[in-house]
Amino acid sequence: AAPYLHFFQDFWCPPYCIQGVNNFQKHFDAKDNDVFVASFPKSGTTWLKALTFAIVNHQQFSSLDHHPLLSSNPHQLVSILEFILNHNLNDQILSLSNMSEPRLLGTHLPFSSLPESITKSNCKIIYICRNPFDTFVSVCEFLTKVNSVSAPEFTFEEAFEKYCNGMIGFGPWWSHMLGYWKESIARPNKVLFLKYEDLKEDTLFHVKRIAEFLDSPIIQVGDSNAVIENIIKLCGFEKMKDLEVNKSGCIFTFFEKKALFRKGEIGDWINYFSLSMIQKLSKIVEEKLGGSGLSFKAHS
Ligand code: A3P
Repeated sequence: AAPYLHFFQDFWCPPYCIQGVNNFQKHFDAKDNDVFVASFPKSGTTWLKALTFAIVNHQQFSSLDHHPLLSSNPHQLVSILEFILNHNLNDQILSLSNMSEPRLLGTHLPFSSLPESITKSNCKIIYICRNPFDTFVSVCEFLTKVNSVSAPEFTFEEAFEKYCNGMIGFGPWWSHMLGYWKESIARPNKVLFLKYEDLKEDTLFHVKRIAEFLDSPIIQVGDSNAVIENIIKLCGFEKMKDLEVNKSGCIFTFFEKKALFRKGEIGDWINYFSLSMIQKLSKIVEEKLGGSGLSFKAHS
């Protein structure tokens, strides 16, 4: 069988992405007003894309009744570049250069593998990750629902061992988080670092941070809280999950849209982990993230 992941540029790359990563690094030309949604997979990418799309396009789609998010999945509105710059490369490059500005784009690549034009330009990156316990459960549940071509056939315990060794798509997860974490400290105007748990617990506060980070005019309007509350409602888990457009069909060929909306909770991992798994992963979190200033509440 083909290997599930390739270790490539210091991260575990899904084989179907390698060509796309090379193309992205070689051909992508960042613009100063580009906005990137970067994430570790299964950490709230879909949610953050929806929120960022609604903020960036607020003036164009001020009526929430006919909003594009009601008729398109967030991944159709904000493409993950290493997934799309694979086939029909010239057409993709052309359509990217013709996109309306500011362009809103997505990636799962570690910071160290981003094209130079992204790191050197003034474009902005909003990053999201999630406590390593829930991330693991979310990945496992997701992989049981995707087309078998891309899904490995591991038991939960086998997948856990690999995860503890960093072997997971775009992992090691700790290097992924720390790469963006360090950059968000060094260049706070370049990288906004978010955690799924924070976004969930105080959505208004963190969505405001996103709007401020992007210098969005929303912040200036008279009742900016009301505008932001409407965006939060539009992008809410139950709302998105119940939309017809998110109930059937696939994105990126083999990911079923409905599998993107599972529980949307903090702490579901407790229903999956044995005591020894909790101890093992807690120790790794401490070893890898201890002293970095990055920590997560949900596993304590
Ligand atoms: P669970 O599997 O724990 O339910 P990603 O979008 O990066 O693939 O992350 C998927 C996780 O985000 C899933 O977590 C999913 O349920 C959750 N999610 C999707 N849309 C969401 C939303 N609008 N609000 C909150 N969580 C959401």
